[in-house]
Amino acid sequence: MEKIRLDKFLASQLNLSRSDAKALLRSGSVTVNGSAVGKGEFTLDAAADAVAVNGTPVVYKKYLYIMMHKPAGVISASKDPTEKTVIDLLPEALVRPGLFPAGRLDKDTTGFVLITDDGQFAHDILSPRRHVPKNYSVWTQRRLTEAEEARFRGGMSVGETVFEKAGLSFAGQEPDTGRFVYSVTLREGRYHQIKIMFAALGAPLVRLHRNSIGGLTLDPSLQPGESRELTEEERSAIQNN
Ligand code: URA
Repeated sequence: MEKIRLDKFLASQLNLSRSDAKALLRSGSVTVNGSAVGKGEFTLDAAADAVAVNGTPVVYKKYLYIMMHKPAGVISASKDPTEKTVIDLLPEALVRPGLFPAGRLDKDTTGFVLITDDGQFAHDILSPRRHVPKNYSVWTQRRLTEAEEARFRGGMSVGETVFEKAGLSFAGQEPDTGRFVYSVTLREGRYHQIKIMFAALGAPLVRLHRNSIGGLTLDPSLQPGESRELTEEERSAIQNN
């Protein structure tokens, strides 16, 4: 049972203002279980009752879970007075109030960003105690020595900060750019963490891309800036790792 007022239901599910939802109700085009309802204060069970607008069902989704391929140049925030945010890139059909990026990538970092309005889910995957792994590709101008790789893997100290053990493997050298590519897996997510770790080794990174969160990999068919909803299986794959 999920009791909710009809005007609130329409506003949240169709991304309408409360006054636009009321206007829609006044127009007589909304039905609940087949009967026309014009009053916003009508209370329905969102999980069981069938709502339609002009005969088209409004599929109820309590929360949205969206995978985005973040391009460089946008920030991981909900709104910003000057910068373009990941929320600004969402297609209209996926926009609704309360969406936010669950975890941040730097402005110049590309790759998988998860966007949701489910605060508990976000908290669960971001909580340092859960240790949900995140995998990145890292590009540098120089190859690390074995000793440097061991330092990175073993839990590096940089100044006052002690990072946890991290996964690191050499993935190859790009023939066209000569840059060295590493696969890095972190189970914590500190501000600028990978940049700080590589800079501390004297091999500053030149590009950073997130491939996966938990057991879910960025859909390769999503171009930078594109996004889509997750399936239920994909959502649970994030936590199964
Ligand atoms: N580490 C960084 O330095 N930047 C990111 O965006 C993510 C991890």
